[in-house]
Amino acid sequence: MVCTWGGVRDMLRILVLHGPNLNLLGNREESIYGAATLAMIDGSLNKLSLELGVELVIRQSNLEGELVSWVQEARNGYHGIIINPAAYTHTSVAIRDALAAVNLPTVEVHLSNIYRREEFRHHSYISGVALAQICGFGPCGYLLALRGLCEQLAGYRAKHIPGIPSAPPGTDTDAH
Ligand code: DQA
Repeated sequence: MVCTWGGVRDMLRILVLHGPNLNLLGNREESIYGAATLAMIDGSLNKLSLELGVELVIRQSNLEGELVSWVQEARNGYHGIIINPAAYTHTSVAIRDALAAVNLPTVEVHLSNIYRREEFRHHSYISGVALAQICGFGPCGYLLALRGLCEQLAGYRAKHIPGIPSAPPGTDTDAH
């Protein structure tokens, strides 16, 4: 199952970034974040990516600078980003600037509904440079983000690369 991109036989490549403390999921404030571990979330993302025919690279860091460097690296060969910046959502101009610089379609994900929580979580530095924000659906939010991003990227291809048939993600184009 392969999606073509720009007429070149090339899979969509999406970078998934998890921010600080998300490595503790499963053992962390379960009433807010649930029982799923990060490995479980990554496993379900990888499963969906096979179904959709997209390539995922998934990384987690507790360090702001490392996240900034990975966002910068996404310029080389990625088509979109899914990011849960965790606490850096509310503090990091550096991650926002990196996302603005690479200018790739980005979906911001939060497990919890940040607008129902403490006031300091109501502001996101990321949402202003994101294509979309999904929050409050728990781990399912990552899957929604991946589906939504694939739809958007297929739409972009149809609009900006005329003459190239727009097979929706997940369509088997091996026969062409
Ligand atoms: C979070 C929400 C943030 O406010 C918090 O700092 C996190 C996780 C979420 O996924 O709900 O670490 O991004």
